[in-house]
Amino acid sequence: MANRPPLRMGWFIPTLGDTTAFGDPEKEIPQSMEHFLRVAKAAEKAGFEYALIPINPYCWDAWVVGSFLAANTKKLKMLLALKPGFIHPVAQAKMISTFDQLSNGRLALNLIVGASEKDAFKEGQTQSKEERYQQLAEEVALLKRLWLEENVHVEGNYYQVRGPMIQPRPYQQPHPPFFLGGGSDLAAEISAENSSIHLFWGDYPEKIQSEIASLRKRAAKYGRENEIQFSMRLQVICRENERDAWDFADQLIANADDEWRKTVANMAEASVAQKRVRDIAKSTGRLMTPHMWTGITEVRPGAGIAVVGNPEQVANQLTEFLKAGCSGFCLSGYPHHEEAERFGKLVMPLLKRCYKALK
Ligand SMILES: Cc1cc2nc3c(=O)[nH]c(=O)nc-3n(C[C@H](O)[C@H](O)[C@H](O)COP(=O)(O)O)c2cc1C
Repeated sequence: MANRPPLRMGWFIPTLGDTTAFGDPEKEIPQSMEHFLRVAKAAEKAGFEYALIPINPYCWDAWVVGSFLAANTKKLKMLLALKPGFIHPVAQAKMISTFDQLSNGRLALNLIVGASEKDAFKEGQTQSKEERYQQLAEEVALLKRLWLEENVHVEGNYYQVRGPMIQPRPYQQPHPPFFLGGGSDLAAEISAENSSIHLFWGDYPEKIQSEIASLRKRAAKYGRENEIQFSMRLQVICRENERDAWDFADQLIANADDEWRKTVANMAEASVAQKRVRDIAKSTGRLMTPHMWTGITEVRPGAGIAVVGNPEQVANQLTEFLKAGCSGFCLSGYPHHEEAERFGKLVMPLLKRCYKALK
């Protein structure tokens, strides 16, 4: 593909806690600002462009963590999860533009409805996933108008506004970019209309290629087929020696007991993206390709598919997704500060070279 967009790399902030062995309390790294900042600084130094800060009932609050990290880093952008119905769009529009101004445009918004109905209850939400997507669509449309127009009047299904005032205006014009992570039809439609970057969880490169083609087709309805870009949200386990990477992978999940595995298997019951990850693990077992491993999906919902190997093997596997049409990755690995540092030193230069070499 001619004129590929720049390679955009993100790293995950583990606001849910960190570990080097699931199920072993002694290996846990508890949630703390000290640890989040250590991870953010390692990611920044390693050359990652943005930090993904998740949202769910067990994570520390994304907006507060993001503000703290933005104030204590220099270049790293914050990709903050935006969930519908959490914060009224008038307050949210002002929060976002203030954050954007204070950080000189180091903000992007990850549109997320949440992977689980049970979690939605824990966060004070009672609507179904479909209703949350409808609310998200209305909310994003309203936010865009609030940042651009004066005297907005809207009588929507979820929000009614009568001329609110938004000051300041965003630093990034017309507004900070949207990302979206979700696998359903509704997710695809909202992403096609709004996302700068659509995020996929781990899958086969051929499947990603066909998903990209279908999302671009949808985006064409909005005149955005060349605007929308694609990125993979993956785990990475890289060691200089491949054997060490696999040893770490095995011990990372070895201590998780059956009860926890059963709990994880029933999490995120309403998510199409989660169902796809589960189906892959069920149909292929732990090894999808010689360097793609589903082991973490047994102990963690969501982004559990990992690229495992030595630096060259990891870079080559990631390059398969670049060939499929992605232009970046949002990665994580355990413990997050060490894997970020290692990736920056050992894989990032190889990956940049591979991306540059693609025609
Ligand atoms: C890259 C990516 C990041 C996500 N981040 C979050 C998150 O921070 N919090 C959350 O509750 N769900 C997160 N999700 C899960 C989505 O909210 C989930 O896919 C949701 O159930 C959407 O449903 P769908 O896949 O059926 O469209 C993420 C999903 C993806 C693909």
